[in-house]
Amino acid sequence: MENESVVTKYALQEDNIMDNTIRPETIEEYIGQTDVKENIKVFVEAAKIRNEALDHVLLYGPPGLGKTTLAFIIAHELGTHIKTASGPSIEKSGDLAAILSSLEPGDVLFIDEIHRMPRYIEEILYPAMEDFSLDIIVGSEGNSRNIKIDLPPFTLVGATTRAGDLSAPLRDRFGIISKLQFYTTEELCAIIKRTSRVLDMEIADDAAIELAKRSRGTPRIANRLFKRVRDFALVKGKEKIDLEITKEALNRLKVDNLGLDKTDHELLLAIIEKFSGGPVGIEALSSSIGEEVTTIEDVYEPYLLQIGLLKRTSRGRIATEKAYEVLGIKRN
Ligand SMILES: Nc1ncnc2c1ncn2[C@@H]1O[C@H](COP(=O)(O)OP(=O)(O)OP(=O)(O)O)[C@@H](O)[C@H]1O
Ligand SMILES: [Mg+2]
Repeated sequence: MENESVVTKYALQEDNIMDNTIRPETIEEYIGQTDVKENIKVFVEAAKIRNEALDHVLLYGPPGLGKTTLAFIIAHELGTHIKTASGPSIEKSGDLAAILSSLEPGDVLFIDEIHRMPRYIEEILYPAMEDFSLDIIVGSEGNSRNIKIDLPPFTLVGATTRAGDLSAPLRDRFGIISKLQFYTTEELCAIIKRTSRVLDMEIADDAAIELAKRSRGTPRIANRLFKRVRDFALVKGKEKIDLEITKEALNRLKVDNLGLDKTDHELLLAIIEKFSGGPVGIEALSSSIGEEVTTIEDVYEPYLLQIGLLKRTSRGRIATEKAYEVLGIKRN
């Protein structure tokens, strides 16, 4: 438990179950992301007035910032159903055709990790997105024919941690493209307070602030840490989470004052000690700390860049002056 990385993208099943109880359902309950939220409210309202499907929406940003949550909220606000799929799970054109033809007018089709959808599947999606029609080839070679099926108007909501990996033709077919940002301490505090109400475990204000500061700007991490701290409080026989137990639990979980965990430290230390502060290429960094390139790029780097501990240059990654300070290492 002590060595567990809290920023790991792949939540435990237990966390997933909890996710569903604490996930906000309406746009009013969705905290932060003000710009994105306000825009979506307007577009949803307009679509309802025109009695048309909402334009296709692409949500992108680091893991755990609320993309899936927002997709469900969009369907909720539209008053329609949502069908979900994930990019890598759609392997055959028939899979996509089955999902598309099951949609009702105005429904939301949510495709998670849309950047991992095979290219030939993407090509089926283009006419579906543009003209609400499905062109598929049926039959075997030599005896095949094209058939065209009309689809009801629907809204595709795509989510991705890597907008850059999306092909240009796919990206261009989204009318609304929104980038989710890291949350402020105040916003995370509000999320923690909400989770505390939903899970019926009180938390003191100063404890909530401490948790918020150490959550890497990410609601999923805030909620997960809340749950862990709650466990410590329970075992200690406390009825309320206070600052003392929060600090103790976070230290035991090896989450530092900035919310950085073991892998963040390893990453920065590797740049400083093995590559003299950088620049170092992502591949070399990856093999040096034993984390996949995509995990570094999607999960760890965005927050380190955001708080100014890391810099990206054309020649590779550099540890900043602030990184040396934070790690207590003298630059020589
Ligand atoms: N704006 C928000 N307000 C309140 N809670 C939130 C908000 N955004 C996210 N959460 C909480 O954080 C958890 C993680 O959010 P979500 O699963 O939507 O992230 P994601 O961006 O889809 O992550 P991934 O890229 O890993 O799929 C949710 O279960 C939800 O409880
Ligand atoms: Mg998600």
